[in-house]
Amino acid sequence: MSKSNAWSDPSEVGEAEVARMAAFLEERSRSQDMQTVNISLCKILDPHPGEYILEVGCGSGVLCRLIAPDLQPAGEMLGLDISPHFVEQARKYALQPGVASQIKFETGPAESLTYPTDSFNAALAARLLLHAKDPDSVVREMMRVVKPAGRIVVMDWDFDTVVVDHPDRELTRRLLTWRSDHHGGDNWSGRKLWRRMVSAGLQNLTVHPVVTVARAEEDGLTQSLWRAAQVCRDGGAISAEEHDDWVLYLKERIQAGTFFASINYFIIKGFVP
Ligand SMILES: C[S@@+](CC[C@H](N)C(=O)[O-])C[C@H]1O[C@@H](n2cnc3c(N)ncnc32)[C@H](O)[C@@H]1O
Repeated sequence: MSKSNAWSDPSEVGEAEVARMAAFLEERSRSQDMQTVNISLCKILDPHPGEYILEVGCGSGVLCRLIAPDLQPAGEMLGLDISPHFVEQARKYALQPGVASQIKFETGPAESLTYPTDSFNAALAARLLLHAKDPDSVVREMMRVVKPAGRIVVMDWDFDTVVVDHPDRELTRRLLTWRSDHHGGDNWSGRKLWRRMVSAGLQNLTVHPVVTVARAEEDGLTQSLWRAAQVCRDGGAISAEEHDDWVLYLKERIQAGTFFASINYFIIKGFVP
């Protein structure tokens, strides 16, 4: 299982590091593969004008900014993050031209929300439960603060679903498995979401798998693969030479237009009883 993870407790890193993490989320959100999954998530959430929607673990506020225009004219988006530095960053990005004005950001842990019962029309947790210290409490709290018949939407990737077209199967498997087990939270969170939502008592559940494909250097998954190779090398799972060979091969494939990698995200939607 994963060891240290700055995403699950950004209070352990300083303001400058959180600014860097927020810039990373912003850059990743502009990549083709991330846009695919983020747009799918918004369609499944199905926001309507006048609704009041909560995102827990909002990070730099990418999804809040995407959802907010659909709530206009009278609705509001509220982003919550455990890190005050992330909230600061999210407020800064929300000041960009063209961003809907009905977005607020607040600090707090998703496991114990301060909002009254039945406050929101819907709540979402995207790429949060894999990092949260107590994901079941997060789902329970989202259910408490959403009105009866309101929607709860959760999404995570499952890193063991990564496929990479590389000729060295043994090295690729070793690298991906080590990354999945040792870096960046619970990388099996995606497959656990269904169980969490059923166990919490949500109704009319639907599962929406989204396979995102990376073919370019700037795709979010491509960047995650370079990072995976680095952490495996630094953690001693692969040698420096194996790192360089693995990455070089894939970079050549990108240049040739023949690079292919993918990962599955799982989006689960349920309704509060
Ligand atoms: C990987 S980021 C995802 C951000 C955003 N949801 C997105 O998809 O772009 C995870 C965020 O969850 C926040 N976080 C981690 N644990 C949390 C918790 N227990 N309660 C609230 N936020 C949390 C982190 O500070 C970080 O900003």
